[in-house]
Amino acid sequence: MGKIKILVIGGGGREHTLVWKLAQSPRVKEIYVAPGNAGTVGIARNLDIKPNDIEALAKTASAENIDLTVVGPETPLSEGIADQFLIRGLQIFGPTRQAAEIESSKVFAKELMQKYNIPCARSASFSDYSKAKDYVKQQQPPIVVKADGLAAGKGVILADSIPQALDALSRIMEAKAFGAAGDRVIIEEYLSGREMSTFAFTDGHTVIPMTSACDYKPAYDGNRGPNTGGMGSYSPPPFLTPALAKTVKEKIMEPTVKAMHDEGRAYRGVLYGGLMISDSNPRVLEFNARFGDPETQVTLPLLQTDLVDIMLAVNDNKLDKLKVEWSRDACVGVVMASGGYPASYKTGFPISGLDDLDKDIMVFHAGTKLGEKGEVLTNGGRVLAVVGRAKTIAEAREKVYENITRINFEGCHYRKDIALIKEGS
Ligand code: AMP
Ligand code: GLY
Repeated sequence: MGKIKILVIGGGGREHTLVWKLAQSPRVKEIYVAPGNAGTVGIARNLDIKPNDIEALAKTASAENIDLTVVGPETPLSEGIADQFLIRGLQIFGPTRQAAEIESSKVFAKELMQKYNIPCARSASFSDYSKAKDYVKQQQPPIVVKADGLAAGKGVILADSIPQALDALSRIMEAKAFGAAGDRVIIEEYLSGREMSTFAFTDGHTVIPMTSACDYKPAYDGNRGPNTGGMGSYSPPPFLTPALAKTVKEKIMEPTVKAMHDEGRAYRGVLYGGLMISDSNPRVLEFNARFGDPETQVTLPLLQTDLVDIMLAVNDNKLDKLKVEWSRDACVGVVMASGGYPASYKTGFPISGLDDLDKDIMVFHAGTKLGEKGEVLTNGGRVLAVVGRAKTIAEAREKVYENITRINFEGCHYRKDIALIKEGS
């Protein structure tokens, strides 16, 4: 294949990072992004198409002779974008609808893990509200209640008491707070430990781990406040020893890919495992069928192998022929959010200071757009991720926080404690 044209689907920080990384490949002729943001302008051609408009995306990919489409968010995957593209003979990086069920149905993922002995929390699933209530009443709190389907990260309730768990059940199953995503629920034992996001490239057979990362979901310092899409992240986790990485690969990622193959749902793309690690013993909290956000912003900068080569090898079932290499550096990313986020917030404020940063600082845009004069304006809850890279997490962290004070927009807030960890812990 000569030089190729790529279409990236999505418009957040993850997708800006994907566009940025793919643009570094000598194999790329041109990149399109749908819809993209102010950060992708200049490295890609932004298209005004929604990530869920599969029909319009497929038509554009055909009309523009796109050689490879890369999917960022989960919703189009769960709605079968990969199937639709493959039927039309279009190359796409991302799992089919049936394979993406590993994320879009927590009950499916749980049954898979139980059937194939993949370590996870003890749990039971229910489609009957009164049976679910009876089961909850017999449990010891804390206890976790999860809606089966996609709920934008809000369908998991950690209940400290039985009344709280019953209230969560009622909201999910009776009031249908998440619509059909709440037709079934999982009631799960509460796990404590350290959380880690782990990722692997897979063509359905070969599994190549990516570096792992930790993200911060609560809005405020000290992990207080409401949950968000992610307020920052760092990679690699200092507690990720080679022995733990081996366990994660051999006991979780490889058996899961094999299980999906054996179930007739061959999984191709990036598999994301949300893990809880207690006493060096990793267990799966959830799987996602895509790259993480904001984990991508701190992992892809460390990838040394050409991302286009990896994606094409995944699609050609040739991942076993490829050596994927990672830098030993560390990255820390801090998200700057709009005032009020994750509750309601205003947009359209100019962002200053973006040209005033140290050369090695990376800024990945999420909710931004260009104004009439080409100025960068806020356009979402999470606005930017500011990423520093260095030999250690501590140095990368120092760089980010030194630079982030130079960036400003009305109402902006960010956490001050991202990657505040003891080295060697
Ligand atoms: P999930 O969408 O399943 O990853 O859940 C969202 C968040 O809820 C996770 O990132 C964890 O912080 C937390 N969580 C989920 N399941 C459990 C569990 N069984 N025990 C403790 N925390 C959990
Ligand atoms: N970082 C959480 C997610 O991407 O789902």
